Amino acid sequence: MLWLPAFVVGLVQLSIANPLASKRWNDPAVKHAWVETPRGWEFHSAPPPDHLFDMRIGLKQNKLEELISSLYEVSDPAHERYGQHLSKEEVDALVAPHPDSLETVESWLQYHGINPADARFRSTASEWVTIRVSVAQAERMLDTKYGVYYHAGSDSYVVRTMEYSLPRELHSHVDVVTPTTYFGTMRSMRSTSFLKPQTVTGAEDSFALEISPLAVPASCGTTVTPACVRAMYNTTSYVPRATGTNKLGITGYLEEFANDADLQTFFKDFLPADVGTTFTHVQVNGGLNTQSDPGVEANLDIQYSLAIAVPTPATFYSTGGSPPFVADSNTPTNTNEPYLDWLDFILNQTTIPQTISTSYGDDEQTVPEDYAVSVCNLFAQLGARGTTVTFSSGDDGVGGGNCLTNDGTNKVIFQPAFPASCPFVTAVGGTTKVNPEVAVDFSGGGFSRYFAQPSYQTAAVSPFLTGLGTKFAGLYNATGRAYPDVAAAAEGFQVVISGRTESVAGTSCSSPTFAGVIALLNDFLISEGKAPLGFLNPLIYTIPSGFNDIVSGSNPGCGQAGFTAGVGWDPVTGLGTPDFLSLQALVA
Ligand SMILES: *[C@@H]1O[C@H](CO)[C@@H](O)[C@H](O)[C@H]1NC(C)=O
Ligand SMILES: *[C@@H]1O[C@H](CO)[C@@H](O)[C@H](O)[C@H]1NC(C)=O
Ligand SMILES: *[C@@H]1O[C@H](CO)[C@@H](O)[C@H](O)[C@H]1NC(C)=O
Repeated sequence: MLWLPAFVVGLVQLSIANPLASKRWNDPAVKHAWVETPRGWEFHSAPPPDHLFDMRIGLKQNKLEELISSLYEVSDPAHERYGQHLSKEEVDALVAPHPDSLETVESWLQYHGINPADARFRSTASEWVTIRVSVAQAERMLDTKYGVYYHAGSDSYVVRTMEYSLPRELHSHVDVVTPTTYFGTMRSMRSTSFLKPQTVTGAEDSFALEISPLAVPASCGTTVTPACVRAMYNTTSYVPRATGTNKLGITGYLEEFANDADLQTFFKDFLPADVGTTFTHVQVNGGLNTQSDPGVEANLDIQYSLAIAVPTPATFYSTGGSPPFVADSNTPTNTNEPYLDWLDFILNQTTIPQTISTSYGDDEQTVPEDYAVSVCNLFAQLGARGTTVTFSSGDDGVGGGNCLTNDGTNKVIFQPAFPASCPFVTAVGGTTKVNPEVAVDFSGGGFSRYFAQPSYQTAAVSPFLTGLGTKFAGLYNATGRAYPDVAAAAEGFQVVISGRTESVAGTSCSSPTFAGVIALLNDFLISEGKAPLGFLNPLIYTIPSGFNDIVSGSNPGCGQAGFTAGVGWDPVTGLGTPDFLSLQALVA
C-alpha cells in the first residue's frame, strides 16, 4: 500500500479521532518474546516513563535475496562472478528498504507523534533507522512494558523488555527493533580468551625465529610463539608485498584496549626485525583507547594476527560500551548493541580491511532470532564487499553450564554459539599440541538452531552426520549451519601484557592466528593483481587439501562426551588448520 505524503499528514492530524488509523496501528502481533527472564538477569524496577533512549529499527531490506545470491556468486570459485566484489553503493542499493516500507514506518512513527525528519538513518541505504524515544513512548509503540534488569555477574543494569509487538501491518516491513529482548550487552558478551597460570620464562631467547621453515619444534606443543604459528601454518618464508593495499582489522569490545608498547615488547622478544611496526587505533562510538589498561584479549588479537601478517597494516577498532544505566537520571542512554554500532561504522566506509577477526560471542539461544538474523545479514554485506570475517567458535565445547533450553521446557541441548553459527562468517575452532595438532577439548562446535545448513558445506558435513548415526539425537540440530569451518592453535600463546609475557588460551587465539594466514593469502592475491578472498566458506569447502585435517580429540560439554574430531570435516576443528603454502598454490 502506498500512502501519498499529503494523505499521511492528514492521517496524523486525524489519528486520534480517525478510527481507520487507530485500527491500523492498534493491531499488535508479537514480534519476539522470552518465556523466562534471560539467565543471569533479574527484574529490578520499572524505568522512569520519561527515560530517553535511542531506538533502532531494522527495516526489511528490499533486495536481500539478491544481496545473498550476489554474495554466493562472488564467493564461489566456480562462478563467473567470482572475486567481483560489490562496492558500497552496490550493496547499499540492495539493502535499501522498499519505499513502501519506509513510508509505512514513517506513518507509524507519525501516528506516535515522532517526526520522521528527526530520525537518523545509517548511510545511504537507510535500512536502519534510529529515533530517540521515551520509555512511555516505546511502550505504546511496541505494546510492551520495559523493565530495568540487573546482571549480578557484571554488576550492570539495562533497560529491556521480555517481549515486544508490532502492528500486524509492520511485520512485513520491519525485521527487528532494538533495544528490546536482546539482553546481551557489551558486558555480558563473552571474550573467548583466558589466562593460563603457567608463564614460560626465557621463552624470548629460545624461540626468537631460530626455527627452520618447515620443522615445527616440539616446544610449540606447549609454548606457542610467533615462530611456532609461522612454522605450524607454513608462513615462515612468505614476505608480504601488497602492504599498500592489503589491510587487517581486529575488533575490540568490553573496554579491552590494544597496547602499543606491549606490541613493541612482543616484537623485540619474538620478531626483532619488526620492532617499530605499529597499528592504527580507530575509536567507534565512544570507544576509548586507554593505553594504561592493556587488555588480554586485545593484546592477544593484535599480537598474533600480526605475528603472521606483519608488516600488513592493522587497525584495532575499539567500540564503546554501554554507559551504565542510572535509574534516577534522565540522561538519554545510548543503548549500544554489541555488533550494530561497529557494523554501522564499518559498512559506512568506502574501503574496508580485507580480513577482520573477532573473538567475542554469546550462546545462540540468548540472542533473539530476529536480532541474530539481522546481524548475520550485516556480516553478509561485509562478505559481499570482499572482506573475510572470522569469529572464534567459543570455549565451551558443545555447550557450557547446564545447557538447559530457555524456552520453558528446560531440556538439555548442545548450545551453539553466535555469531559463529552465522553462515556468512568463518568460525575458527581450536587445537593444541603439535606433530600432530589435536582438537583442544574446549573447542566450540556444533549446529545452529537458527540458521539452516548452507549448501557450501553439505558435502563435507553429511559424511560426519552419517558416521554419527543416532548418537546425540535430539541434542543437536542436524539440519542447522554446522561449525567451526576451520581451526588453529588455542593454548599456550605467549602474549605480552603490561610488559610481562603471559600464557593465554581460548579460541580467541585461533581466530586472529587464522586471520593472519588469510591476510597473507590476500596479500599474495592482491600482489598478483587478483581480488582478495572475501567470504571464504564457499571456497574452502572445495579445497580441503589446503588444510591439515585434525583427526583426534573431542569437545565435551553439557555433561556429554561431545563430538569427536576425525577424518574430514568435524564439529570440533572443521576442515582443520591452514597450510599456507598449499592454500597459496590452490588459490593461485
Ligand atoms: C557515514 O559516512 C558519511 C560520510 O563520511 C558521514 O557523513 C556519516 O555521518 C556517516 N554515517 C554514520 C552512521 O557513521
Ligand atoms: C533446526 O534448524 C532449522 C534451520 O535449519 C530451524 O528451522 C529449526 O527450527 C531447527 N530445529 C531445532 C529443533 O532447533
Ligand atoms: C608446509 O609445506 C610443505 C611443502 O609444501 C609441506 O610438505 C608441509 O607438510 C607443510 N607443513 C605444514 C605444517 O603445513
